[in-house]
Amino acid sequence: MKAIRVDEFGPPSVMKLENVPDLVTGPMQVLVQVKAAGVNPADTYTRLGTYARKPALPYTPGIDGAGIIVSVGEGAKAKVGSRVYLSGTVTGSYAEQALCQAADVHPIPSQLSFSQGAAVNIPYATAYRALFQRAKAKGSESVLVHGASGGVGVAAVQIANAAGMNVIGTAGTERGRELVMKEGAQHVLDHTAPNYMDQLSTLTQGRGIDVILEMLANVNLGKDLKVLAPGGRVVVIGSRGTVQLDPRDAMTRDAEILGMLLFNTSEPAKVAIHSALAKGFEDGSLRPIVGKELPLSEAPRAHEEVMKPGAYGKIVLIP
Ligand SMILES: NC(=O)c1ccc[n+]([C@@H]2O[C@H](COP(=O)([O-])OP(=O)(O)OC[C@H]3O[C@@H](n4cnc5c(N)ncnc54)[C@H](OP(=O)(O)O)[C@@H]3O)[C@@H](O)[C@H]2O)c1
Repeated sequence: MKAIRVDEFGPPSVMKLENVPDLVTGPMQVLVQVKAAGVNPADTYTRLGTYARKPALPYTPGIDGAGIIVSVGEGAKAKVGSRVYLSGTVTGSYAEQALCQAADVHPIPSQLSFSQGAAVNIPYATAYRALFQRAKAKGSESVLVHGASGGVGVAAVQIANAAGMNVIGTAGTERGRELVMKEGAQHVLDHTAPNYMDQLSTLTQGRGIDVILEMLANVNLGKDLKVLAPGGRVVVIGSRGTVQLDPRDAMTRDAEILGMLLFNTSEPAKVAIHSALAKGFEDGSLRPIVGKELPLSEAPRAHEEVMKPGAYGKIVLIP
């Protein structure tokens, strides 16, 4: 089969499409014919070799994907022919086939395409965990999705809207802002405009924001603390550097800064997340947005694009 292989850490060009030996299922594993692989910023950090999770070389990138089960290993409770999305793989999803632990495959409802299935795991699980398992958000609260046009942001807007929250999103392009409104935000701001955060007081009738989901904490965390409501929480989802902040902003509001890394999620919490997401896909409140499909051979281009401004939902690779 064909797979993207990385022989050395480095720029996107280190990813090469190669022929590799077929995979064989072990106990409690399933083999999935990959129909689409989700591209996440974390895949680029792993490729650079700078991420906390550093695979042994050579490796096939990719955590997210969707496809059809073609083989079931001993003891695995799964059926050949099932349409599934993946919440992790043993061998990497940027490939025609991927081995997965049986616990990491989840049914895709018939109304979702494989590309939409590949857009589920990291974005939706992160958004859900940030909102409900970390920030303990409630339907009556306001949420600022700071970076709402990308994979995690769109998922967060849909999930928070479905929970009845007052959702404010931000995006850097007109096209991104239209998407954020269409997916359920009540207001959208331009995070490239000067002083755009000044509007948050008016938008919350002077109360401030209850929950902020932060995609770029190194740029925004200091400013986030100044717009929080009393008892407000900021969940740091993304950060690409250091930041200066005034601790007194947190002190005066009884505010909390909460970190999160999806890979730290416990097994029971994961089960709760994927069963809540399944309900949202069934009732139509959650609809993954795929902005771009590229052939598997264009993995290097996908990695360049996922790091550029102008996000629009997800980028997926088609083997
Ligand atoms: N902690 C975790 O477990 C976890 C899980 C998933 C993702 N992440 C991280 O979270 C971040 C978002 O992930 P993603 O998959 O949504 O990435 P993505 O699809 O590439 O989206 C990036 C988002 O950040 C926005 N952004 C750009 N400049 C911004 C600014 N100054 N202020 C606020 N937002 C800004 C982009 O908006 P425009 O393009 O419209 O400007 C876009 O909405 C990444 O850094 C990723 O590594 C962490």
